[in-house]
Amino acid sequence: MTTASTHGEQDRAHAVAAAAERRWAYVVGAIFVLLVAVMVFTGLRWASMPPSRVETIDPRTLHISGEFVEGNLGTSVAADGRVIVRVVAQQYSFEPPCIVVPAEMPVTFRGTSTDVVHGFIVGTTNANVMLIPGYVATFTTTFRRAGEHLMPCHEYCGTGHEAMWARVQVIPPAEFLARARSGERLSCVSR
Ligand code: CUA
Repeated sequence: MTTASTHGEQDRAHAVAAAAERRWAYVVGAIFVLLVAVMVFTGLRWASMPPSRVETIDPRTLHISGEFVEGNLGTSVAADGRVIVRVVAQQYSFEPPCIVVPAEMPVTFRGTSTDVVHGFIVGTTNANVMLIPGYVATFTTTFRRAGEHLMPCHEYCGTGHEAMWARVQVIPPAEFLARARSGERLSCVSR
């Protein structure tokens, strides 16, 4: 009699344990299915909707002609008033090595690389981009205050990587516009 009731309790315990394990198996299975679904969805979405702005450039000829010739690098003010900075990265420097931009005005950076993947970040601002040979990277940012920032390369690009950096001078907008009126490319040197 006692043996039979002990067996009954053991069976109930087994049933409870099996039910709990089955519940966990369902939860884990659901998480697995969800993760796979997210992977499939994002993969298909990226494949069917590539990023809207892919701008290519031939890294072998960009120093000979076009937008990124040496005389066109640095900061300029476009006819419509936009401030545009053009930068070329190469092992192991940025051209130009010092960039002048205005504070409190939107500044559009356009950059590319002649050799390997580089990148840069401007001080503690949100200006942060990768420069990939064959592509033009573009972003627009506004510097809040005048001041000077370091602009280091932040993609490992070879043995000289840690010595690859430029400077960014943020100057008051009035001073910037006065200097920009000459129509030339602005650089730190003429300051
Ligand atoms: Cu260029 Cu690291």
